[in-house]
Amino acid sequence: MTKTLDLTPDELLTTTRTVRKRLDLERPVPMELIRECIEIALQAPSGSNRQTWHWLVITDAEKRAAIGEYYRQAVEQYLASSGSAGKLHADDPERGPVQRRVGDSVAYLGERMGQVPVLVIPCLQVRSLPAGNQAGLWGSILPAAWSYMLAARARGLGTAWTTLHFTFEQEISELLGLPEDIRQTVLIPTAYTIGTNFKPAPRQPLDDVLHVNGW
Ligand SMILES: Cc1cc2nc3c(=O)[nH]c(=O)nc-3n(C[C@H](O)[C@H](O)[C@H](O)COP(=O)(O)O)c2cc1C
Repeated sequence: MTKTLDLTPDELLTTTRTVRKRLDLERPVPMELIRECIEIALQAPSGSNRQTWHWLVITDAEKRAAIGEYYRQAVEQYLASSGSAGKLHADDPERGPVQRRVGDSVAYLGERMGQVPVLVIPCLQVRSLPAGNQAGLWGSILPAAWSYMLAARARGLGTAWTTLHFTFEQEISELLGLPEDIRQTVLIPTAYTIGTNFKPAPRQPLDDVLHVNGW
């Protein structure tokens, strides 16, 4: 196992940020490191212990560029929409500037997704999506995806949880030759970070969202 950064569990959990501008696009990432992170991710919970997860790791430059172009187009559409991060809470003196920084950062990654050395897409094998409760379904892959990101952070790698590529879900599935019953969950660009110091982010107060013994 690779030597990890000197972080306590709480530090790891509170400093695993969405990294966009500090992804090192030039430094190659050894496949062994990605394998290690996925190996750790496989320890996450899965409904009925089915483990019907699959992990797509894309390092091929042409395929990354093709996914990057789909992502760029999706981000362009997103940034033009009224719900994009940079436009939320525009009149709030505290949240507005943070949101504008997020919007700026999303745009930055939008132009560079295809240059990130490794793209990871955790997938779930599922025949059809149920109309009702889907939490049990996605709950069998999303915790594992987050574990992957934590393991990456512990090894000096940066990641970002991205979903805008879903605008072109079908096209990307075809590009990667995914079988019909394999659903993508999240597109995780992965690269060494420029510097390894990251801070906890501002969040809304706990008491605004905490409900003890009922709403
Ligand atoms: C469901 C979900 C979808 C997201 N999609 C994107 C995305 O497509 N592109 C992107 O740059 N960031 C995306 N993000 C990252 C959020 O913008 C980010 O988590 C948020 O701004 C808080 O920043 P932090 O993760 O550094 O604390 C997504 C996050 C979540 C949870």
